[in-house]
Amino acid sequence: MPVAYAVAFFSDVCLGEAEAPAPGSAGDTLTVEDKRMAYLVYNLLDSNGMILGADTARGRKLFFRNCAPCHGRDGRRMNLSHDLRNPQYIGTTAHDEAPTFWYMMNFGDSIRGMLPYFDEIPLSEMIDIAGFAQTLPRHPWTREEMEIVDRENEKRKAERERLEKISSENSP
Ligand code: HEC
Repeated sequence: MPVAYAVAFFSDVCLGEAEAPAPGSAGDTLTVEDKRMAYLVYNLLDSNGMILGADTARGRKLFFRNCAPCHGRDGRRMNLSHDLRNPQYIGTTAHDEAPTFWYMMNFGDSIRGMLPYFDEIPLSEMIDIAGFAQTLPRHPWTREEMEIVDRENEKRKAERERLEKISSENSP
Protein backbone atom coordinates (compact mmCIF):
# COMPACT_ATOMS: atom_id res chain seq x y z
CA MET A 1 0.00 0.00 0.00
CA PRO A 2 1.26 3.54 -0.64
CA VAL A 3 3.28 4.94 2.25
CA ALA A 4 1.00 7.94 2.76
CA TYR A 5 -1.94 5.62 2.97
CA ALA A 6 -0.18 3.24 5.35
CA VAL A 7 0.85 6.06 7.68
CA ALA A 8 -2.61 7.60 7.62
CA PHE A 9 -4.17 4.20 8.21
CA PHE A 10 -1.90 3.48 11.15
CA SER A 11 -2.34 6.86 12.80
CA ASP A 12 -6.06 6.84 12.17
CA VAL A 13 -6.55 3.44 13.69
CA CYS A 14 -4.10 3.66 16.55
CA LEU A 15 -4.20 7.31 17.49
CA GLY A 16 -7.84 8.06 16.83
CA GLU A 17 -9.67 10.86 15.09
CA ALA A 18 -7.19 13.58 16.12
CA GLU A 19 -4.70 12.25 13.58
CA ALA A 20 -7.25 11.55 10.85
CA PRO A 21 -6.03 12.34 7.33
CA ALA A 22 -7.16 15.62 5.81
CA PRO A 23 -10.37 15.19 3.86
CA GLY A 24 -9.58 14.47 0.23
CA SER A 25 -5.91 13.58 0.93
CA ALA A 26 -4.39 10.29 -0.17
CA GLY A 27 -4.97 8.75 3.23
CA ASP A 28 -8.60 9.76 3.39
CA THR A 29 -9.94 6.54 1.94
CA LEU A 30 -11.21 4.56 4.89
CA THR A 31 -14.93 4.20 5.34
CA VAL A 32 -16.53 4.42 8.78
CA GLU A 33 -16.94 0.65 8.62
CA ASP A 34 -13.24 0.12 7.78
CA LYS A 35 -12.17 2.26 10.74
CA ARG A 36 -14.40 0.51 13.23
CA MET A 37 -13.33 -2.92 12.07
CA ALA A 38 -9.65 -1.95 12.04
CA TYR A 39 -10.00 -0.54 15.56
CA LEU A 40 -11.24 -3.93 16.71
CA VAL A 41 -8.46 -5.86 15.01
CA TYR A 42 -5.59 -3.54 15.97
CA ASN A 43 -6.61 -2.41 19.44
CA LEU A 44 -9.04 -4.83 21.01
CA LEU A 45 -8.42 -8.43 20.04
CA ASP A 46 -5.81 -10.70 21.55
CA SER A 47 -4.33 -13.58 19.56
CA ASN A 48 -7.25 -15.83 20.57
CA GLY A 49 -9.86 -13.39 19.34
CA MET A 50 -10.79 -12.29 22.87
CA ILE A 51 -11.62 -8.65 23.65
CA LEU A 52 -8.94 -6.94 25.75
CA GLY A 53 -9.68 -4.35 28.42
CA ALA A 54 -13.43 -4.86 28.72
CA ASP A 55 -15.22 -4.07 31.98
CA THR A 56 -17.54 -7.08 31.85
CA ALA A 57 -19.55 -6.02 34.93
CA ARG A 58 -20.46 -2.80 33.15
CA GLY A 59 -20.90 -4.74 29.91
CA ARG A 60 -23.40 -7.01 31.64
CA LYS A 61 -25.57 -4.06 32.69
CA LEU A 62 -25.33 -2.50 29.23
CA PHE A 63 -26.16 -5.80 27.58
CA PHE A 64 -29.20 -6.28 29.81
CA ARG A 65 -30.42 -2.79 28.98
CA ASN A 66 -29.70 -2.70 25.23
CA CYS A 67 -29.58 -6.23 23.91
CA ALA A 68 -31.45 -8.55 26.29
CA PRO A 69 -34.94 -7.36 25.29
CA CYS A 70 -34.46 -9.21 21.99
CA HIS A 71 -31.57 -11.61 22.57
CA GLY A 72 -32.49 -12.65 26.13
CA ARG A 73 -30.45 -12.11 29.29
CA ASP A 74 -28.25 -15.09 28.47
CA GLY A 75 -28.27 -14.40 24.73
CA ARG A 76 -30.16 -17.59 23.93
CA ARG A 77 -33.59 -16.23 23.10
CA MET A 78 -32.67 -16.12 19.40
CA ASN A 79 -31.13 -19.01 17.54
CA LEU A 80 -29.19 -17.26 14.80
CA SER A 81 -28.49 -20.43 12.82
CA HIS A 82 -32.21 -21.29 12.60
CA ASP A 83 -31.11 -24.91 12.89
CA LEU A 84 -32.32 -26.60 16.05
CA ARG A 85 -29.65 -29.30 15.86
CA ASN A 86 -26.83 -26.79 15.56
CA PRO A 87 -27.92 -23.62 17.34
CA GLN A 88 -25.88 -20.44 17.34
CA TYR A 89 -26.48 -17.74 19.90
CA ILE A 90 -25.14 -14.25 20.23
CA GLY A 91 -22.63 -15.66 22.75
CA THR A 92 -21.37 -18.09 20.10
CA THR A 93 -20.83 -15.30 17.61
CA ALA A 94 -19.13 -13.03 20.16
CA HIS A 95 -16.76 -15.79 21.23
CA ASP A 96 -16.07 -17.58 17.94
CA GLU A 97 -16.44 -14.72 15.45
CA ALA A 98 -15.71 -11.46 17.25
CA PRO A 99 -15.46 -9.45 14.00
CA THR A 100 -18.96 -10.56 12.95
CA PHE A 101 -20.29 -9.66 16.37
CA TRP A 102 -18.56 -6.28 16.26
CA TYR A 103 -19.79 -5.51 12.76
CA MET A 104 -23.39 -6.46 13.59
CA MET A 105 -23.43 -4.44 16.83
CA ASN A 106 -22.06 -1.37 15.04
CA PHE A 107 -23.76 -1.49 11.68
CA GLY A 108 -26.65 -3.94 12.01
CA ASP A 109 -28.38 -5.74 9.18
CA SER A 110 -31.62 -4.22 7.99
CA ILE A 111 -32.70 -7.37 6.17
CA ARG A 112 -32.30 -9.58 9.22
CA GLY A 113 -33.73 -6.92 11.53
CA MET A 114 -30.65 -6.13 13.63
CA LEU A 115 -30.33 -2.41 14.42
CA PRO A 116 -27.10 -0.42 13.99
CA TYR A 117 -25.76 0.92 17.31
CA PHE A 118 -22.86 2.94 15.89
CA ASP A 119 -24.59 6.24 16.67
CA GLU A 120 -26.35 5.03 19.83
CA ILE A 121 -23.73 3.39 22.01
CA PRO A 122 -20.30 4.99 22.63
CA LEU A 123 -17.21 3.00 21.65
CA SER A 124 -16.10 2.45 25.26
CA GLU A 125 -19.47 0.89 26.13
CA MET A 126 -19.37 -1.30 23.02
CA ILE A 127 -16.05 -2.73 24.16
CA ASP A 128 -17.61 -3.69 27.51
CA ILE A 129 -20.66 -5.22 25.82
CA ALA A 130 -18.48 -7.24 23.44
CA GLY A 131 -16.31 -8.48 26.34
CA PHE A 132 -19.35 -9.51 28.32
CA ALA A 133 -21.02 -11.15 25.29
CA GLN A 134 -17.98 -13.43 24.97
CA THR A 135 -18.88 -14.89 28.38
CA LEU A 136 -22.46 -15.81 27.40
CA PRO A 137 -23.45 -19.46 26.94
CA ARG A 138 -22.64 -21.05 23.59
CA HIS A 139 -24.42 -24.36 24.08
CA PRO A 140 -28.16 -25.12 24.15
CA TRP A 141 -29.89 -25.50 27.51
CA THR A 142 -28.67 -28.65 29.21
CA ARG A 143 -30.98 -31.06 30.98
CA GLU A 144 -29.70 -29.69 34.33
CA GLU A 145 -30.47 -26.10 33.32
CA MET A 146 -33.97 -27.12 32.17
CA GLU A 147 -34.54 -28.79 35.54
CA ILE A 148 -33.55 -25.61 37.37
CA VAL A 149 -36.00 -23.63 35.23
CA ASP A 150 -38.75 -26.21 35.89
CA ARG A 151 -38.14 -26.07 39.65
CA GLU A 152 -38.25 -22.25 39.61
CA ASN A 153 -41.49 -22.33 37.65
CA GLU A 154 -43.00 -24.83 40.12
CA LYS A 155 -42.05 -22.56 43.03
CA ARG A 156 -43.58 -19.52 41.35
CA LYS A 157 -46.73 -21.44 40.53
CA ALA A 158 -47.11 -22.59 44.14
CA GLU A 159 -46.56 -19.03 45.39
CA ARG A 160 -49.13 -17.66 42.94
CA GLU A 161 -51.69 -20.25 44.01
CA ARG A 162 -51.02 -19.51 47.69
CA LEU A 163 -51.62 -15.78 47.12
CA GLU A 164 -54.75 -16.40 45.05
CA LYS A 165 -56.13 -18.61 47.82
CA ILE A 166 -55.50 -15.93 50.46
CA SER A 167 -57.14 -13.23 48.37
CA SER A 168 -60.19 -15.37 47.59
CA GLU A 169 -60.58 -16.27 51.28
CA ASN A 170 -60.44 -12.61 52.19
CA SER A 171 -62.81 -11.32 49.55
CA PRO A 172 -66.37 -10.70 50.71
C1 HEC B 1 -35.05 -4.97 18.59
C2 HEC B 1 -34.44 -6.27 18.77
C3 HEC B 1 -32.93 -6.35 18.89
C4 HEC B 1 -32.11 -5.70 19.78
C5 HEC B 1 -32.52 -4.72 20.85
C6 HEC B 1 -30.78 -6.18 19.52
N1 HEC B 1 -30.78 -7.09 18.50
FE1 HEC B 1 -29.16 -8.07 17.75
N2 HEC B 1 -30.36 -9.01 16.40
C7 HEC B 1 -31.71 -8.82 16.29
C8 HEC B 1 -32.20 -9.60 15.15
C9 HEC B 1 -33.64 -9.68 14.68
C10 HEC B 1 -31.07 -10.27 14.62
C11 HEC B 1 -31.04 -11.22 13.42
C12 HEC B 1 -31.58 -12.54 13.84
C13 HEC B 1 -31.62 -13.53 12.71
O1 HEC B 1 -31.05 -13.30 11.66
O2 HEC B 1 -32.21 -14.57 12.95
C14 HEC B 1 -29.94 -9.87 15.42
C15 HEC B 1 -28.66 -10.32 15.20
C16 HEC B 1 -27.57 -9.94 15.96
C17 HEC B 1 -26.22 -10.40 15.73
C18 HEC B 1 -25.79 -11.35 14.63
C19 HEC B 1 -25.26 -12.64 15.16
C20 HEC B 1 -24.93 -13.62 14.08
O3 HEC B 1 -24.21 -14.57 14.39
O4 HEC B 1 -25.37 -13.49 12.95
C21 HEC B 1 -25.43 -9.80 16.66
C22 HEC B 1 -23.94 -9.96 16.84
C23 HEC B 1 -26.29 -8.97 17.48
N3 HEC B 1 -27.57 -9.08 17.02
C24 HEC B 1 -25.84 -8.21 18.54
C25 HEC B 1 -26.65 -7.38 19.30
C26 HEC B 1 -26.16 -6.55 20.39
C27 HEC B 1 -24.74 -6.53 20.88
C28 HEC B 1 -27.23 -5.85 20.85
C29 HEC B 1 -27.24 -4.81 21.95
C30 HEC B 1 -26.31 -3.72 21.79
C31 HEC B 1 -28.38 -6.25 20.06
N4 HEC B 1 -27.99 -7.17 19.14
C32 HEC B 1 -29.67 -5.76 20.24
C33 HEC B 1 -32.51 -8.03 17.07
C34 HEC B 1 -32.07 -7.21 18.08
